[in-house]
Amino acid sequence: NCSLNTTTNHLRHVESMAVLPSGAGKIPRLNAVILGEALASEEDDLVFPSDDFARQALLPSAQKYLEMYKRSVEDPAGFWSDIASQFLWKSKWGDTVCSENFDIRNGNVYVQWFKGGITNICYNCLDRNVDSGNGDKIAFHWEGNERGFHDSLTYTQLLSQVCQVANYLRDIGVKKGDAVVIYLPMLMELPIAMLACARIGAVHSVVFAGFSADSLAQRIMDCKPKVVLTCNAVKRGSKVIHLKDIVDAALSESAKNGISSAVLHIAYSFGILTYKKTPLVSKDVVPTYSTICEVEWVDAEDPLFLLYTSGSTGKPKGVLHTTGGYMVYTATTFKYAFDYKPSDIYWCTADCGWITGHSYVTYGPLLNGATVVIYEGAPNYPDPGRCWDIVDKFKVTIFYTAPTLVRSLMRDGDAYVTRYSRKSLRVLGSVGEPINPSAWRWFFNVVGDSRCPISDTWWQTETGGFMIAPLPGAWPQKPGSATFPFFGVQPVIVDEKGVEIEGECSGYLCVKSSWPGTFRTLYGDHERYETTYFKPFPGYYFSGDGCSRDKDGYYWLTGRVDDVINVSGHRIGTAEVESALVSHPQCAEAAVVGVEHEVKGQGIYAFVTLVDGIPYSEELRRNLITTVRNQIGPFAAPDRIHWAPGLPKTRSGKIMRRILRKIASRQLDELGDTSTLADPGVVDQLIALADC
Ligand code: WT7
Repeated sequence: NCSLNTTTNHLRHVESMAVLPSGAGKIPRLNAVILGEALASEEDDLVFPSDDFARQALLPSAQKYLEMYKRSVEDPAGFWSDIASQFLWKSKWGDTVCSENFDIRNGNVYVQWFKGGITNICYNCLDRNVDSGNGDKIAFHWEGNERGFHDSLTYTQLLSQVCQVANYLRDIGVKKGDAVVIYLPMLMELPIAMLACARIGAVHSVVFAGFSADSLAQRIMDCKPKVVLTCNAVKRGSKVIHLKDIVDAALSESAKNGISSAVLHIAYSFGILTYKKTPLVSKDVVPTYSTICEVEWVDAEDPLFLLYTSGSTGKPKGVLHTTGGYMVYTATTFKYAFDYKPSDIYWCTADCGWITGHSYVTYGPLLNGATVVIYEGAPNYPDPGRCWDIVDKFKVTIFYTAPTLVRSLMRDGDAYVTRYSRKSLRVLGSVGEPINPSAWRWFFNVVGDSRCPISDTWWQTETGGFMIAPLPGAWPQKPGSATFPFFGVQPVIVDEKGVEIEGECSGYLCVKSSWPGTFRTLYGDHERYETTYFKPFPGYYFSGDGCSRDKDGYYWLTGRVDDVINVSGHRIGTAEVESALVSHPQCAEAAVVGVEHEVKGQGIYAFVTLVDGIPYSEELRRNLITTVRNQIGPFAAPDRIHWAPGLPKTRSGKIMRRILRKIASRQLDELGDTSTLADPGVVDQLIALADC
């Protein structure tokens, strides 16, 4: 459904403009904005930055963006080396700034940026800011779960604490290249532990503290860490979670599987945060270490971290990011997408257990010398006004969160928002899933008092940083659209044959050629890296997302097109949930699909076939859900179990998920062709059991 005429006219139009010579590559179509023409959509759907905002913006116009964008894709080496030069490098990279093969047809895929350049990201986050006179600036404001518990660290203090942990890690034998698993809640100790690893060249792998012992064990067995860092317990909302017990269980599980290299060192005892006394291996040793720690200088292409994420099949994938390109990319995206100024107070609600907490709680902001708010607890504890309480308390200017939280707070009513001033806010951000226009408008009108642009940032664990995102101040926004590509990013929409489609269209979102924050491999499985991301549409990186582009060139993300479900911005593979379900002795088979969910975006809907002779029961339903909670984590618990005497399969035994999705969303008149099923009768059986 591409309107080719529009495209051709449009391109002619673009070429006629002095700033955009022909042959400039696929330059985002922002000419209408520049020329002040009416954009193609309804006037009502456009939200312009205020004059006040645009005047002070780092990037005040679409024209300026286009000039920079054009250079970023025509001369990526020049564009990114100029930016990289602002950081500290022990020695500069070689002549080749970027070397890559992004086209699987030409051999193995690889990506390198700034190879030969010697640096350290921890040094650039901390020492560089202290040395340039910002040592007394607050790096972290920490707000505890319970109101009234808070703390803060200046850049100088943060550097000292990072050095102590780094010295401790070195002392217990952690060396450059060793993996360290971090299983901690949102305490300052979490980014401190990450930075300490980076300082000594160790590769951190943070496991979200909501993952179960089984999931933690699986990750430990994959990356074989020298050390696991954790704490006793954490209180989230009104619940206490005993993290140390979970780590103990995970370690005995991995020991059974022959992985005994993981040594547990409880490095901290968190005073007020210690809710239960468990035997500690090395309680409070860290503060006895020196606050000065020599940096381990590393190559730009040395690994910085591993972060596990769900795929459509099999076990979680260890996404590997390296140092130099990631550093340059997270710093630059942070600065432009949030219009960052040194006076800003920035709060991102993400947990460091996910990529957002790596790139936009820790590295991106600190590289810019920003003041970052870290919040330990649940965003609606003790009531749905907590976020705005925190915003007022710390005078937060940039607030970055997920649509699921926006929708849930929207449901709780405006009064919780309007009772707080929020006048410090100037930029809002959204990430994790498409933000529906009504949530966008509520966020904009109620939370931001119609004053703050919303940066709807589309990106992925794999991309390291923002890929498609508004630059607030540079162009009008359309609620629900992530708008245009970031510098250096060349998005491509392809059809099911992998053929690029132009202009107004929809299809599969791919990216042509690398950007500095590209992930380099899946840990220990480069073949899976190539198969998952580069084979589906040869010549491109495939994101796994569907996308459309409107007449004005704005990009609209439409969600995953693979067997991955996006629940509250958390990626969950259907295969993982299925394998947890079938591990229950009374479950014969399971098929999981995503369904629309008012707050979570998508909910988990599981079709379950029981072992012969086992009757359906509420108790069994609860047990199945508990099994998933225990094996993956509470956030992966199915919202619904649908009893299935059989599953719709083709004659070759493949489950037809298309039909299951329709049944799950009760679109029963859209089941389509069921004649190719081995037993078309199962469809009627499933429908009959839909409300049991
Ligand atoms: C998937 C990546 C990147 C940080 C959080 C999630 C979806 C992410 C958006 C957005 C529409 C979005 C995509 C993507 N997604 N941001 N602004 N608009 N969809 O990271 O766990 O790697 O998940 O999240 O489907 O593929 P992740």
